[in-house]
Amino acid sequence: MSATAPLAVRRRSLQIALDVRTVPEALAALESTADDVDVIEVGTILCLSAGMEAVRCLRAAYPLHTILADVRIAEAGSLIANLAFDAGADWVSVVSGAAPATVPAVAQVAAARGKEVQVELSDGWDWDLVSRCREVGIAQFIVHRSRDAEASGNLAWSAADLDAIAELHRRGGRVSVTGGLKPEEIRAFSEIPAEIFIAGRGIYGAEDPAAAVHTYRTAIDSLPAVDR
Ligand code: 5RP
Repeated sequence: MSATAPLAVRRRSLQIALDVRTVPEALAALESTADDVDVIEVGTILCLSAGMEAVRCLRAAYPLHTILADVRIAEAGSLIANLAFDAGADWVSVVSGAAPATVPAVAQVAAARGKEVQVELSDGWDWDLVSRCREVGIAQFIVHRSRDAEASGNLAWSAADLDAIAELHRRGGRVSVTGGLKPEEIRAFSEIPAEIFIAGRGIYGAEDPAAAVHTYRTAIDSLPAVDR
């Protein structure tokens, strides 16, 4: 796996979200799972707890994986993006509520350094934001299943979520899906153009993370590729 190859062919990908507090916990989670994942997400919790040192350590340990620093940029876009990229991240995340000037600032830094940006579409996002992102070359969008739905035990993705994924794809976006994602839900995306499946607790929180990640990988690999 390399930082550029996995997504270029548009096969569906698996991103492990490491929302743990320490680098040793992250490394322990990756020991038995990294071979099955395409993207390593240094989760927001880990970024806040251990700083960019966490990105540096995971980059050193996994030089060939794509690494996302889930720094959820809202302001000071070029400064934070450069911190993450200097530490070895390939991608950074920006929140959908970021200041209007922040999105192009992060996009500009990413483009100049050959990196990418994932925009996290949280409650209240709109299509104007998506248009502004596409205009500055941002292609990656994260669609979250609502935490309320998850908390109520409703594991179905809403029709609105699925329509949004299809429309983002039509607009040239590359869509990630996340939010308590379980392997048994993945087959429902057979005809839905979600390209990256992000799972955290379902992998590192499992009794047997190696078996868990393998179940996600098998489910993802059984999906047809996404048309471009
Ligand atoms: C990705 C995130 C989370 O890290 C992701 O949703 C993983 O969560 P879960 O533990 O529910 O699988 O914010 O952008």
